Amino acid sequence: MEKDGALELGGKGVVHEGRVVVVVGAGYVGLTYAAGLAARGFSVRCVDVNPDVVEAVNSGRTPIDEPGLGDALERARAAGLLEATTDLGRALRGASVAMVCVGTYCDDEGRIDLSHVREASRALGRALPGAGSHVVVTVKSTVIPGTTDGVVKPILEEVSGMLCGRDFGLCMSPEFLREGNALHDITHPDKVVIGGYDRASIEGLRPFLVPEDAGGGSGGGAPVPVVETDLRTAELIKYAQNAFLATKISFINELALLAEKFGVNVGDVARAMGLDHRISPAFLNAGAGFGGSCFPKDVLALAKAAEQVGVEPVMLGATLRANDRQKLHPVCLLEEMTGDGWIRGRRVAVLGLAFKPNTGDTRQAVSRSVLDALLGASAGSVVVHDPSEMAVEEVRETYGGRLVYASSVEECLRGADAALLLTEWEEYRGLGPEAFTSNMNRPPVVVDARRVYDRGTFERAGVKIRVIGESDDRSFVPP
Ligand code: UGA
Repeated sequence: MEKDGALELGGKGVVHEGRVVVVVGAGYVGLTYAAGLAARGFSVRCVDVNPDVVEAVNSGRTPIDEPGLGDALERARAAGLLEATTDLGRALRGASVAMVCVGTYCDDEGRIDLSHVREASRALGRALPGAGSHVVVTVKSTVIPGTTDGVVKPILEEVSGMLCGRDFGLCMSPEFLREGNALHDITHPDKVVIGGYDRASIEGLRPFLVPEDAGGGSGGGAPVPVVETDLRTAELIKYAQNAFLATKISFINELALLAEKFGVNVGDVARAMGLDHRISPAFLNAGAGFGGSCFPKDVLALAKAAEQVGVEPVMLGATLRANDRQKLHPVCLLEEMTGDGWIRGRRVAVLGLAFKPNTGDTRQAVSRSVLDALLGASAGSVVVHDPSEMAVEEVRETYGGRLVYASSVEECLRGADAALLLTEWEEYRGLGPEAFTSNMNRPPVVVDARRVYDRGTFERAGVKIRVIGESDDRSFVPP
């Protein structure tokens, strides 16, 4: 396929050497990097073991629900800069970088499961000798310190018969993409972290990861800070960051519980705290806890790894326990308003299934804990709604006929005795009290678990409402 120092990709575009990236794993991270790199003119080959995923990407469909991703992938394809394949050997020919973007999961104990990372490493090891180019293998998957040099490197060397640092490069570069904002995060990163086996590996990867024109995360045009470090430090940076953000959320959520008992609005407390530049306002939104595929899994995996090295994970454990408690708090607030046993036989509406707005992901979502609790309390019917069809389908796979699936907010609220708002989708933020008073049984009982409604306005309209982190109960006086 080589022609005068250039490579032909799928017979369409002609790309120059030093511009080819192979992305191993066409999941959420892999596809976002594929789209981001192609937008910067790199030629991207996405490799996945699942032929359905490959077929979807090659025919312009995205297997995940991420704003803008479908269009970005389509543009890349149309420009001849993106091709998906199951054939890693072919994809790696002439490539400069191979990014490992496969998922890491937890085993039953919560420990990290590296089976996909191992499989991808073996496949890369088999393909490396035929690449005909110097490839920097780059681990993007979130992995516990010690994985890249202790697991990936030996597999690559053993299977390929090649030597790391001489025949191929090795880096670990964590990603900090937020679901729902992934494309923005990839073009406007706050920072790029590159952990390298050696200096040459870092130099080889750097041009692929530092968006020259993107400016800083604030969009102010400053150069993106690049942190160059070793493999293990890069691995721990990712966990440290996710664990810290999760801890910030658990902290403000505990404050929310206290605020309810002290007759205080936690939003005012968070706003004031956030004005201290040492704290910052980000991730101080109290709510029903964190979900998703990252925070819960990563904090747990780091806690398990801490135990393995003989350090009791006191902080990490507290972050997780506080989150488990918080996820059930919407149901506790409902019971506080209505009394024990009230849920039995009632029709309860649940607005929001995705773990956060603008995603179809329901993994570890608050909705799942709340649905289990409502069904466990023998609610007469639980009616659910989410603007993302993917989120609804994921929940349907788990709960099937035990739930009623509403196709609009009105249908969800109609005839309901209580409503719980669990995800702050724009569509729900815009609802006034009349959406609840005109559809629900009277008096409508509402729990706002994401702090989007003005309590006074709702109460004046006749809605019985509790907002997480707020109350007028000033009865507590220190003894
Ligand atoms: C998170 C990190 O923010 C990313 O930087 C990281 O790359 C990613 O994990 C990952 O490891 O791949 P994500 O899980 O997409 O991204 O979502 P976040 O926007 O961080 O929200 C996580 C959860 O925290 C959501 O359930 C959200 O509702 C909750 N949250 C967030 C709060 O309850 N309060 C806040 O103030 C912020």
